[in-house]
Amino acid sequence: SAAEKGGHEYFMLKEIEEQPTALADTLRGHFVDGRIVLDEQRMTDQDLRDVDKVFVVACGSAYHSGLVAKYAIEHWTRLPVEVELASEFRYRDPVLDRATLVVAVSQSGETADTLEAVRHARDQKARVLAVCNTNGAQIPRESDAVLYTHAGPEIGVASTKAFLAQIAANLMVGLALAQARGTKYSDEVAREFAELAAMPAAVAKVLGTVERVRELGRSLADSKAVLFLGRHVGYPVALEGALKLKELAYMHAEGFAAGELKHGPIALIEEGLPVVIVMPSPKGRAVLHAKMVSNISEIQARGARTIVLAEEGDETVRPFADELIEIPAVPTLLQPLVATVPLQVLSAEIARARGYDVDKPRNLAKSVTVE
Ligand code: AGP
Repeated sequence: SAAEKGGHEYFMLKEIEEQPTALADTLRGHFVDGRIVLDEQRMTDQDLRDVDKVFVVACGSAYHSGLVAKYAIEHWTRLPVEVELASEFRYRDPVLDRATLVVAVSQSGETADTLEAVRHARDQKARVLAVCNTNGAQIPRESDAVLYTHAGPEIGVASTKAFLAQIAANLMVGLALAQARGTKYSDEVAREFAELAAMPAAVAKVLGTVERVRELGRSLADSKAVLFLGRHVGYPVALEGALKLKELAYMHAEGFAAGELKHGPIALIEEGLPVVIVMPSPKGRAVLHAKMVSNISEIQARGARTIVLAEEGDETVRPFADELIEIPAVPTLLQPLVATVPLQVLSAEIARARGYDVDKPRNLAKSVTVE
């Protein structure tokens, strides 16, 4: 009913609006007496100290949340982190032992491939931490420990608030590891957590500016394809933006690492092709920013319509942006939390303009319980 959708036409649109709350609820209770607390009963500090390698296994958007977290966890902990599609992980004989932490990320907690990856990891004696949005689901039940995301029920088939909550949870796993291993002092952990705790407000700010993104979406409704480019943490954002567009608008969409352009994808650029570019911060990541500006100028010279997501006040990128979507300045590792939101809105709006039901895209199920 309309009431269930909080006055929105679709659950997905309501769930996009709920993202600040989903983030705040996911973070709540995990910073106690100056320390990150994950799952006190089942994953102790000693367990975390014993870890020498991390795998994140998941499917779809949950996998993208793992790609985001890899940048932070490696940087904070100096542990190697591999992020792998659950369906690939279990068939390739990954190297696992008691010192391996496998983080299984799943909104539903019922995804067959992720569940099988958990079983395989446990058979190999790895320790499994589930990051899950559904209380008592199969994946947390079969894991050694669980960190729940508290996004609330997600009805729309396309993941939105659960995805942001997964990123936040994965980052807390990174902070807990850094804290236990001593790769970060407690004041640094506190500062990182405070930055995370400021993200619900930053996401709310983005939500206040998406009307222009909707207009832009309507103008893209007849496009044949859209490309998404990013670097560093902007790369998984590009993948997620492309996945949303495929799922909702049935449009050909691809996300690329911008550095790969010259290795092939640039051949796709033609007059009028919309290309969404996720810009790093000009201050936080000046070198990457300059590289992205040069990527944009190359594709603009070949006639692409550039749609640029950039930090507020980023003047250098303006001349290269046919369309500019501004996002608040936030710490680099947290940028995906704000950069993903306009891309969700964009896809939903393109889908609506094309007359599709954004809650129930064709051919898709909310959770994929068969392999
Ligand atoms: C995202 O929009 C998807 N519909 C899909 O990729 C989803 O993220 C994937 O199936 C994983 O689901 P899970 O988090 O419930 O395991």
